[in-house]
Amino acid sequence: MSLLPSSTRSIPDVAAVPRHIAVIMDGNGRWAKKRFMPRVIGHQQGVEALRATVKACRDMGVEYLTVFAFSSENWRRPADEVSFLMGLFIKVLAREAVKMHEKNIILKIIGDRSPFDAALQKAMQDAETLTANNTGLTLTIAANYGGRWDVLNAVKAMLHEHPERVENFTEADLQPYFSMSEAPEPDLFIRTGGEQRISNFMLWQLAYTELYFTDALWPDFDRAELEKAVASYQARERRFGRTSEQLKPT
Ligand code: IPE
Ligand code: IPE
Ligand code: MG
Repeated sequence: MSLLPSSTRSIPDVAAVPRHIAVIMDGNGRWAKKRFMPRVIGHQQGVEALRATVKACRDMGVEYLTVFAFSSENWRRPADEVSFLMGLFIKVLAREAVKMHEKNIILKIIGDRSPFDAALQKAMQDAETLTANNTGLTLTIAANYGGRWDVLNAVKAMLHEHPERVENFTEADLQPYFSMSEAPEPDLFIRTGGEQRISNFMLWQLAYTELYFTDALWPDFDRAELEKAVASYQARERRFGRTSEQLKPT
């Protein structure tokens, strides 16, 4: 296992399994609609796809899996869908935290939790505390997360601690204040559901991530789909601004 962080400063070995995979789990509503079922059934089925993906990542040796569960823009959805999703989060957290703990998974939640109700905030905190000292896969769930929020939050937190930096600070100064500061930047980004956009996911951290888009709807995503995405990643050349010739061993 390479200890090099995947970042804009070092070149990870693409032949290896990506250390960090970030996923926009999209297409739940359309999956349900195709089956003449309410959209929320798609979300329910999406939980199964997440479970399968977590397992496949553990088997492959992925170290970090970060998934977009609810964006800061998803509050714009119909109230009944939003409240179903909130209920689903609580249920899944309560049910799965112990199972994840048994599997040595570290569970983290990123995003602004303040609008969530007290029970959900507590379930999030409990799951994080329970799994904090584990050493296996880090599963990070982005809930009420937005990439722009993350950048603003980091700047605010840094200036709060270091008001003297207001005149001048570097990327490295800001780095410890991002929600994913302890993880390497994602090597591979996957978006299911056919849309080819970032939708305000990890804007800062995706600067040099390899992007992969698939038409597969999230509830249909499984180990085979993940393997396709990883194979696509492994066929790429990550240059980080260099020329292809510079990467060849001399
Ligand atoms: C993604 O699936 C899940 C969430 C945003 C919570 P969607 O609900 O966006 O499904 P589509 O895109 O409408 O099919
Ligand atoms: C992005 O999906 C957010 C999540 C998957 C949680 P959306 O389906 O909400 O994205 P847009 O708004 O269509 O881009
Ligand atoms: Mg969608």
